[in-house]
Amino acid sequence: MTPAYEEVIASLKDSYDADAATRDGQAKEPWKLAERESFLRRLTKGQKLLEIGAGTGHDSYFFQRNGLSVTATDLSPEMVARCRAKGLDAHVMDFLSLDFPPESFDAVWALNCLLHVPNKDLPRVLTAIHDLLKPGGLFFIGVYGGEAHEGIHDNDQAVPKRFFSRRTDEQLKAFVSECFEVVDFHPVTSGEYRIQVLIARR
Ligand SMILES: C[S@@+](CC[C@H](N)C(=O)[O-])C[C@H]1O[C@@H](n2cnc3c(N)ncnc32)[C@H](O)[C@@H]1O
Repeated sequence: MTPAYEEVIASLKDSYDADAATRDGQAKEPWKLAERESFLRRLTKGQKLLEIGAGTGHDSYFFQRNGLSVTATDLSPEMVARCRAKGLDAHVMDFLSLDFPPESFDAVWALNCLLHVPNKDLPRVLTAIHDLLKPGGLFFIGVYGGEAHEGIHDNDQAVPKRFFSRRTDEQLKAFVSECFEVVDFHPVTSGEYRIQVLIARR
């Protein structure tokens, strides 16, 4: 049975708090650099971007350096501390407690974080993101996936082991299409991994 959302995030918080220092020193894979460059080209200097599940803030820092007005959020206080150390406006906020006025942002960037949301909770998370975007605003999602599977990964090295939701392409597009227009979808292969990249418009 899928655990309750609160249970999932309590465990993820501990996992990511413990891993923040290690992750901060890791280099980004080339596909991630290419995708953020490409998303940046869709935006205009001065626009407001919200990053959710920002981790150590490397992407938020990139967008800020390139002229966007950036707000970073993450569940893990240790991750948020690393964002702040990079000079970012960063807040400890879960996907369901994003405390900003409606229509605050021109864009939302969500890389490798929505794969931690159980399918049963994904519609309300997507609705919360939708409400924070201005009409016409863009939403980037990058997640590992391609086949449907939910649960703890037995071979996960993180402590505690993390909950993952992997979705088929059709599942992911169907979830997002409930409240957005899908403007781009493409799979990316990196080593043994398959990543689903989706860009949606409010
Ligand atoms: C795999 S890391 C990715 C970090 C960053 N986006 C990147 O690509 O480097 C996942 C991040 O999502 C955050 N996260 C997971 N579930 C979350 C939730 N419900 N609300 C906010 N952040 C969450 C974790 O704390 C972690 O920092």
